[in-house]
Amino acid sequence: MSKLFYRSDIPEAAQLLRAGELVAFPTETVFGLGALANDDQAIQRVFQVKGRPGDNPLIVHVDSIQRVEQLASEISPIAKQLMQTFWPGPLTIIFPVKPGIVSNLVSGLPTVGIRMPDQPLTLELIRQVDFPLVGPSANLSGKPSPTQYTHVLDDFGDQIAGVIVPRTPLTSIGVESTVVALDTEIIYILRPGAITAEMLHQSTGAKVIEKTAKEQLSEERIASPGVKYKHYSPKQPVYIIPPDATLEQWEEWISSTSHVGVLATQKTIEALKLRMAKLSIIYETLGTMDTVSQYLYRGLRALDQSDAKIIFVESFEDDERTHAYLNRLNRAGQPAETLK
Ligand code: TXA
Ligand code: MG
Repeated sequence: MSKLFYRSDIPEAAQLLRAGELVAFPTETVFGLGALANDDQAIQRVFQVKGRPGDNPLIVHVDSIQRVEQLASEISPIAKQLMQTFWPGPLTIIFPVKPGIVSNLVSGLPTVGIRMPDQPLTLELIRQVDFPLVGPSANLSGKPSPTQYTHVLDDFGDQIAGVIVPRTPLTSIGVESTVVALDTEIIYILRPGAITAEMLHQSTGAKVIEKTAKEQLSEERIASPGVKYKHYSPKQPVYIIPPDATLEQWEEWISSTSHVGVLATQKTIEALKLRMAKLSIIYETLGTMDTVSQYLYRGLRALDQSDAKIIFVESFEDDERTHAYLNRLNRAGQPAETLK
C-alpha cells in the first residue's frame, strides 16, 4: 500500500526519495509526482507509472533560488527578477540546462523547467532531501491533474511509495503553473496559469507573448512538448457550454440524452435545478467565478467516477480570472455546438 505522510513523516518521505522511491507531494497548483532529479532509474519510473511519452520533459522543484544553480547553466537578469518576484509561486521558468544533468529528465532538450512551489511541507521535503525533485503532475498521462491527495491514490494505487497530505483538502490554485521561456527582452508564455501576462509584464517591463498550443505545434521545434498531447480529460466526452448560452439553450443540450453530468458555478446549478427538477442530472460545482480554476479538475474527476455518460461544462468570457481555466477546458472538451 502506498503511505500517507503527514508533517511529522517528512523525514521518512525524504529518506525514501533519497533511496530512489517515488513520493507525491502537494503544491499550490496541483500535486506533483516526486523523484530525485539526479536518479536516472527513479526518473524512468516516473515516466513509466504516468504513461508519459519519453519526449515530454519533466519539470524540477527547488526550495530556494540558490538551488537553481545545481541545474541551470545560466541565470539571466530577467530570470532573476522573475524568481525574486514570483517564487515561491506558480511560475515555471525554462533555463539552459547544465551539462551532465541526466538526459531522460529533460528528454534530451538543452533546457530545463524549474519552479519553487508555495507549499511549506514540500519546501521542507526538498530541504531534507537536499536536492531538487522532479515533479510532473501526479496523474496518469491524459487525465485531469490531481488537486486532492485521493486523486493521486486513485491514479497510482500502490505503484508509488506514498503521498504527502497537506492541511487543506484542495490545492489552492487548482491548475498547473504558468510556464515561461525567456529571451533577452521577451517573455514567452508556453502554458498559461495563475501568474498572468499582465503580472509578468508589470514585474519586468518586458514584452510578454503567449504562444498558443497551435502556434507551438506549427513551429519547427515545439517550444513546450506537452502541447502535443491530449490532456486533462475524463473518460466521458466533455462538451463546453458557451458563456452567452441562455437557460433555454442549456436545457436543450442537457436534456438531449440521459446520464448527464454538469459542471457549473453554483449560481448556474441553482437556476438549472429550478428549471429541470424532473430530470436526474449529476451536478458538480465550480463554486463562484473566483474559484472556477480551483474546482475544475476536482469536478471533472468526480463526474468521471459518477454514472454520467456525457459531461457538460460551463465556460466564461476570457479574462484574468478565467484564462487558465479556459485553456485547460478547451483541451479537455469540444464546443456544445458540435453535439449532434
Ligand atoms: O504546477 C505545475 O507546474 C505542476 C506542479 C506539480 O508543480 N507540475 C506540472 O508538471 O504541471 P507537468 O510535467 O505535468 O507539466 C510541465 C509542462 C509540460 O507541458 C512540459 O512539456 C513542459 O512543462 N516542459 C517541461 N520541460 C520543458 C522544457 N525544457 N521546455 C519547454 N517546456 C517544458
Ligand atoms: Mg501534467
